Amino acid sequence: MPFLTSFIISITTWIAPLHLCSSQTPGQLGTTANIRHIVIGRCFTYTTLINPSLRFDCEEIWRRFEEAVIHQASCNVTEDDYNQVFHAMSQIQPCDRFLFWSKTRTLVHSYAAVVPHFWTLEDTLAGYMFNELIWCGQEEDSDFDFNSCPEWSVCRTHPVFSLWKRASQTFAEAACGNITVLLNGSIVNAFNRKSMFGSVELDSLNPHRVKYVNIKVVTNLDGPQIESCSQGSIVDLIHVLRSRGFRWTCTDSDPTLMILQCVQDLTRPYCQRHASILLQQQNLTSN
Ligand SMILES: *[C@@H]1O[C@H](CO)[C@@H](O)[C@H](O)[C@H]1NC(C)=O
Ligand SMILES: *[C@@H]1O[C@H](CO)[C@@H](O)[C@H](O)[C@H]1NC(C)=O
Ligand SMILES: *[C@@H]1O[C@H](CO)[C@@H](O)[C@H](O)[C@H]1NC(C)=O
Ligand SMILES: *[C@@H]1O[C@H](CO)[C@@H](O)[C@H](O)[C@H]1NC(C)=O
Repeated sequence: MPFLTSFIISITTWIAPLHLCSSQTPGQLGTTANIRHIVIGRCFTYTTLINPSLRFDCEEIWRRFEEAVIHQASCNVTEDDYNQVFHAMSQIQPCDRFLFWSKTRTLVHSYAAVVPHFWTLEDTLAGYMFNELIWCGQEEDSDFDFNSCPEWSVCRTHPVFSLWKRASQTFAEAACGNITVLLNGSIVNAFNRKSMFGSVELDSLNPHRVKYVNIKVVTNLDGPQIESCSQGSIVDLIHVLRSRGFRWTCTDSDPTLMILQCVQDLTRPYCQRHASILLQQQNLTSN
């Protein structure tokens, strides 16, 4: 899902879901220009082209969103303020397809693209509509503040953060069957309790609905390999899962996830090695 490239579910702080941090500096930027057209347009794209079987009232979703945000102090929007918005876009999601991730943004959407049954937060209507956008209201005015919005870190009830928290929670609560969690083994604290996965999603998973939590730890092509299924914070994650009664598996050497990274740079030694093996196999089968 290339359009969502900037959705990082887990930075080191509450800044979490939002990627925005990488491309823009929140705090300097106001509400995304043309936000109304973008949100309603994405809603129609989603319900007309991507998922035509769905019936949603895009204008109504927008109206409820506006109601939640404007006329509010820019740092005073809670998850509950979005209740009506989420009621208007509740979606049934198929089991065995849920893909969670943390600090693997570069990889997760190529992974979801090649393994087509996976379904990330950005594949939901909410994730699709609000990805990469910034917004905040202003108390004295009946419009968004297009000049500046506060930074994530300055308030606990940031309007953008609250929406992503709510969206992540809703997504995780709906998770059922086998779910997959993609974590980054090239960093310390691959499983971070402050990330959106560690602080919101994990706690919202229901052990009665989720059959298996299948953890996949992936490292960068050039390493380093800092964490694995038996090393570092992943062990803590497994401990949490166990204590909550989840069944789980963990792999830290999934070749698909490595080879996918070669799409970006085929010259890496790992890629060259595997490319020549593949070519040899091709020679064997064609001879
Ligand atoms: C924040 O919102 C609550 C409930 O909507 C309201 O009671 C409170 O006065 C607001 N605080 C500020 C600083 O605007
Ligand atoms: C792991 O995290 C680092 C630092 O954020 C990032 O540069 C790298 O692309 C990530 N690796 C994968 C496989 O997502
Ligand atoms: C769920 O995961 C378990 C453990 O990896 C596996 O044995 C089982 O076949 C999976 N079921 C489905 C429906 O994918
Ligand atoms: C495949 O076969 C061709 C000719 O049969 C040969 O020139 C080439 O080197 C072989 N490639 C590999 C990777 O073995």
